Amino acid sequence: MNQRDIILVLDFGSQYTQLIARRIREVGVYSEIVPYSISVEEIKKINPRGLVFSGGPASVYGVNSPVPDGEIFSLNIPILGICYGLQLICSMLGGKIKQAKVREFGKAEMFLDSNSNLFSGLNEKINVWMSHSDIVTEIPDSFKIIARTEASQFCAIEDSKKRIFGVQFHPEVVHTENGINIFKNFVYKICECSGTWSPKYFIDNKIEEINKIVGNKKVICAISGGVDSTVLAVLMNKAIGKNLYCFHINNGVMRESESEDVVSSFRKFFNIDIDYIDATEEFLSRLAGVEDPEMKRKIIGNTFIEIFEREAIKIGNIAYLAQGTLYPDVIESSSATSPSVKIKSHHNVGGLPEKMHLKLIEPLRELFKDEVRKIGSELKIPEEMLNRHPFPGPGLAVRIIGEVTREKLEILRKADSIFIEEIKKADLYKDIWQAFAVLLPVQTVGVMGDERTYENVIALRAVSSVDGMTADWYKMPLDLLEKVSNRIINEVHGINRVVYDISSKPPATIEWE
Ligand code: XMP
Repeated sequence: MNQRDIILVLDFGSQYTQLIARRIREVGVYSEIVPYSISVEEIKKINPRGLVFSGGPASVYGVNSPVPDGEIFSLNIPILGICYGLQLICSMLGGKIKQAKVREFGKAEMFLDSNSNLFSGLNEKINVWMSHSDIVTEIPDSFKIIARTEASQFCAIEDSKKRIFGVQFHPEVVHTENGINIFKNFVYKICECSGTWSPKYFIDNKIEEINKIVGNKKVICAISGGVDSTVLAVLMNKAIGKNLYCFHINNGVMRESESEDVVSSFRKFFNIDIDYIDATEEFLSRLAGVEDPEMKRKIIGNTFIEIFEREAIKIGNIAYLAQGTLYPDVIESSSATSPSVKIKSHHNVGGLPEKMHLKLIEPLRELFKDEVRKIGSELKIPEEMLNRHPFPGPGLAVRIIGEVTREKLEILRKADSIFIEEIKKADLYKDIWQAFAVLLPVQTVGVMGDERTYENVIALRAVSSVDGMTADWYKMPLDLLEKVSNRIINEVHGINRVVYDISSKPPATIEWE
């Protein structure tokens, strides 16, 4: 990839670290998260335009609290410390910190000095978001105060000569008024970056990079129809054309007409030929009689890999497997703090590359989900494909509680498509992170006409979320729920009751299994 400006965010464990990197990218400069312990040599190699120290839960005086290499301040690279980052700058350069009696949390009114480059163009009074317990009581000699609140005398400080800045508040969260302008000032006015990070820039450079890596070799890519694999395939195809071999495996647990739609849209919109492999029988026969959710997930994952392997061998001479890994997965797998308890085994093609001597190519690995959508838009991928709700690898198998059968799949597909159709009609689809129906193995008594019925229950689930890690149940309009319920009970044979799931994640999860 061409030389580009980059800002490094040193991670001291804040829940907002990813948000900092995203904000910087939003203003047009590429940004990456690195562990706080990165060495000065490594930083020199990367040659960033600026450094940001994130916040973090530790206290600078705590035992084992994270501290960066002290040489970092001699690099002559601009630094912005946020919250814990500010406290680190103070404590490492000769200031003092103490524990406050009360934790300052929430909105605060801040009075700032707009002569500082960091606050250039901002109103002199803005609302900022605070979340800290330690406070700075003395700043290092070369620094001056550039903002205060009632509770924090040293709310923001600068050493303009050395271009080192610290803020006690969180400019990265939306509750800080004009926080985005603070990042703009830092990257453009202070770090003197040029704003090259844009979808078009990314695409042009990636295509060049993919070509350099792959050359004339063959690449294989499995397409689920989700946003990531769609953008991946279109980008790879633009780069290497006919050397990309795409296929879609119908695992028998896809939604109504989903597999057919995936294959036909690829042909129609992108002129990319996808090999369609109908493996319904293979998957469903292996799932017969299985009730345990983890077993279902494992069977589907393993069967997928087997078929994948078979197809790759048929094509022959494949050198690379293209995979739609995104930046949050990269950060999570490199983080020592990622949760170690397995809640659900996610289905992907892990393990396959080594077994088949395939090298991985992951052109989206530096992107956040919203950036993938922007790249997709630039690649002229239709909106309806880019805004599709996420769909889990094990598909409807984890939305049929208990054993999966063809009859149950048919019932669930019908109910699910009614739900989605009505949400789209009400123009709420884009507002919702994910919406779907779940078929419960519970029969209840109903009455239809003069007849007693004894049939199954459908649960409707809709959630709002930013990344799927946490989620709130969606406050669906009642008349819409009423309509969906009436239609499902009237139109779907085998269902006589509909319920709406009002649990958030945590403690529930989004999928039921
Ligand atoms: P949970 O149910 O864990 O789901 O709250 C979080 C998000 O992940 C999706 N999900 C999966 N995606 N393979 C996937 O690619 C899987 O095995 C899988 N399981 C859950 C789920 O739909 C939600 O968006």
